Amino acid sequence: MDQHHPAASAPARTEPTAAAPAPPSPVAESQAGLQAPPRNPPAHILADRIATTLDDQLVAKAQEVLAKDNKPVAPFWVNKYKQNAARNWDQFYKRNTTNFYKDRHWTEREFPELQFGDEKKVVFEVGCGVGNFIFPLIKSHPNMVAYACDFSATAVSFVQNHDLFDTSRCTAFVADLTKDDLTATVPASTVELLSAVFVLSAIPPEKMDDAVENLARVLAPGGKVLFRDYGRYDQAQLRFKPGHRLEDGLYVRQDGTMAFYFTVEMLSELFQRHGFDVEVCQYVIKKTVNRKKELEMDRVFVQGKFAKRAS
Ligand SMILES: C[S@@+](CC[C@H](N)C(=O)[O-])C[C@H]1O[C@@H](n2cnc3c(N)ncnc32)[C@H](O)[C@@H]1O
Repeated sequence: MDQHHPAASAPARTEPTAAAPAPPSPVAESQAGLQAPPRNPPAHILADRIATTLDDQLVAKAQEVLAKDNKPVAPFWVNKYKQNAARNWDQFYKRNTTNFYKDRHWTEREFPELQFGDEKKVVFEVGCGVGNFIFPLIKSHPNMVAYACDFSATAVSFVQNHDLFDTSRCTAFVADLTKDDLTATVPASTVELLSAVFVLSAIPPEKMDDAVENLARVLAPGGKVLFRDYGRYDQAQLRFKPGHRLEDGLYVRQDGTMAFYFTVEMLSELFQRHGFDVEVCQYVIKKTVNRKKELEMDRVFVQGKFAKRAS
């Protein structure tokens, strides 16, 4: 990474790590229930809420913070981050290996479609990273056929070398969702469940249509995209210092990777444009507290289910 790029002073990543997250610590994405508050939530989660709109108070507070960001990033750098996206993610995995993300054990609870026991289903994870989503499923579904792809060759090789990777039912491959036709590896119209978890946010908005069109090609009619990602006004968005906003809703982290913060409206429209019905598309808001700093904060996520129309 070039030493003089404008993100050099950006805050460190705020996603949960496998080790103890650095304070102030946003709630781990994998820790709490999303559809209903967990019965015994960890002490630092104050509340968990589903909403189709964000409340006025949260929006007003967030907009006040964002209004202070008056340091635009030069177009040269914006283009450079976009062009180097795959390289920067690959470096991320070389640096962090398999130690950054936790296994995503909440998925079957949040997406009941994934509770298919020993039925044979074709499941595809796009932007799979090192497999934190797919391996817990492979373990609990003996007849599941798994595809996984990522544009980081380093991440894909971690997936291929995982103990649970079984070539008789798993295929992992390198592909850029925005430009590599997924049907080159995954037969067209065959995927029953496709997960897109914290991946579309890494793609600049102008390329998201190409990515979603690509997903549509591999999905069987009626097949579903299970989606979870960052929501607009998430605490992680508000923590970026001026000089990291590339464009509206799109930010660059210290390591050069990008993060987009979605509204439910833009997400629904994106999938509708490519032949999907929106089954669910909502915000999941987690009010959390950092006990050390006595700070309350809102993590905002978007969660959706989009079904490919039959024709
Ligand atoms: C925040 S990580 C999430 C990883 C994984 N889905 C998980 O939840 O643990 C985003 C992932 O998307 C991948 N990615 C970003 N843009 C991509 C693209 N255009 N094509 C394929 N993968 C991409 C990155 O390499 C990275 O592994």
